Amino acid sequence: MPLQIDILTLFPRMLDGFLSESILGKGLERGLLGVKVHDLRNWTTDKHRTADDRPFGGGAGMVLKPEPVFAAIEQLQTPGCRRIYLTPDGVPLSPALAEELSRQQHLVLLSGHYEGIDQRIRDQVIDLEISIGDYVLTNGTLAAAVLIDALSRFIPGVLGEEKSLTHESFTSKLLDFPQYTRPAEFRGMSIPEVLLSGNHAEIEKWRQARQREKTRQVRPDLLK
Ligand code: ADE
Repeated sequence: MPLQIDILTLFPRMLDGFLSESILGKGLERGLLGVKVHDLRNWTTDKHRTADDRPFGGGAGMVLKPEPVFAAIEQLQTPGCRRIYLTPDGVPLSPALAEELSRQQHLVLLSGHYEGIDQRIRDQVIDLEISIGDYVLTNGTLAAAVLIDALSRFIPGVLGEEKSLTHESFTSKLLDFPQYTRPAEFRGMSIPEVLLSGNHAEIEKWRQARQREKTRQVRPDLLK
């Protein structure tokens, strides 16, 4: 059974283009994974479809209410599924985590909103909290999209060539080398000579040197 993902969000239409375009769209079309987007307001019970309320103890902003989230997750969850909350105070998304999640059967993703969500949701119906980086988005819907995009690349068949996975940034812990395509000369700019040499050992050496140089310049932390 391919991986099934359910996303719970207050902004389901934010994902329309994301799910129909590009490599991920093709993966969905070919049934390599399944993604369903759910509007959290479908689980509200009042006529205003209220999903949030003011925080106990005071403070700015609104907090996602427990009732619709508990009801939604209890309906969508399956035995053994992973229930994930996207939040800037979660564990950082890494290639290893994306790979591990790509091998699961079923994920339920909850995207947060406003100043946060009721802690009882996190305590009772969430298994894992993930951050996509040290910056704060207005809501977690794009973070859920980033997570799905990153893990889909580990699902066999989603990327055309297996090679494109092994040869790139973060698998080797180094950043990428520069790439060039035709024409070999463009507006007076020619490409590095070695790439035209046909000498694969020399090309490999040149690429590794560029990777180390680039990593030292922009991500020295990766070299430690
Ligand atoms: N929601 C808001 N900001 C986020 C982040 N950086 N990662 C995951 N979810 C978020």
